[in-house]
Amino acid sequence: MAAPVLETENLVKIYGRGDTRFDALKGINLEIGKGESVAVVGKSGSGKSTLMHLLALLDGPTHGVVALEGRPTGDLSAKELNELRNSAFGFVFQQFFLTPNQSVLENVTLPLKIAGVPAAERKRRGLEALEQLEMADKADNKATDLSGGQKQRVVIARALINNPSVIFADEPTGNLDSATSKVVEDILFGLNRDKGITLVVVTHDEDLAQRCGRQIYLVDGEVVPNLPKSTSGVGGERGGQPGTRPASSTTGPLQVTEPTTGAIVTLSEADAAEIARAAQEPPRAGRHAAPSTTDQPGATA
Ligand SMILES: Nc1ncnc2c1ncn2[C@@H]1O[C@H](COP(=O)(O)OP(=O)(O)O)[C@@H](O)[C@H]1O
Ligand SMILES: [Mg+2]
Repeated sequence: MAAPVLETENLVKIYGRGDTRFDALKGINLEIGKGESVAVVGKSGSGKSTLMHLLALLDGPTHGVVALEGRPTGDLSAKELNELRNSAFGFVFQQFFLTPNQSVLENVTLPLKIAGVPAAERKRRGLEALEQLEMADKADNKATDLSGGQKQRVVIARALINNPSVIFADEPTGNLDSATSKVVEDILFGLNRDKGITLVVVTHDEDLAQRCGRQIYLVDGEVVPNLPKSTSGVGGERGGQPGTRPASSTTGPLQVTEPTTGAIVTLSEADAAEIARAAQEPPRAGRHAAPSTTDQPGATA
């Protein structure tokens, strides 16, 4: 794997205490290499969003370490974390988190505003980002006057505005029809391929998961080699590179990378179908605050 951009060590997240204690993550060890595309897959409640929020430094672990580019983040101040998130990460979430009464351009350039970039440069870079998403002609529209697919493209433009090294996407196509989903996915994977932006995608959509170079399967807050009831044999291949899977997720054997050994595991069609079933979950409304732009007022879906 390329040098890790993100690493975790024995990551534990416990919500509540006493009777209401819930162990959402139970000791996660993983590495995400620069330029990888990684899917975090699991049933509803398995801890996917929690893991993503910790990786994205939106929330802190109860125990354990998240390191960004080899640097542990545990002792950074809130201000340092905000700056780091704002400069290193882009966020694409199911609920868009656009500010409805602001223009598309204002929404896209919000991370720059937070970073203190002057207005003229914000505008220039904002239009450039919108251009990439073929949305420049909508710069002055209100964010509410857009279709779901257009909103998600605005969100991606915003995610790109700071040249992030990692884009975190939590159910990025959860609110989109399948044709629009395909467009949004193609954009995200294009950014991964062409700009080397690391992509971390939380999804219950097995097709989307399989477009990623690697899948991390979560069950009850733990990483497992694959989702339950799989009886597949283990292939001997090692060292599979991210991005070697064909873009089409409908043909060929389903391969997963065993997270601890890196072994490539080939699943039978029956196992693949089982995983697909197990990974299904209805889209859920988010419970967490808006990402990267946490100081964004009145974030709404
Ligand atoms: N802020 C919170 N307070 C209490 N429990 C939470 C909180 N956030 C998540 N949980 C619980 O942790 C578990 C994992 O949640 P989450 O990471 O959102 O799962 P997923 O994204 O896989 O559906 C769920 O049982 C959820 O109810
Ligand atoms: Mg979730």
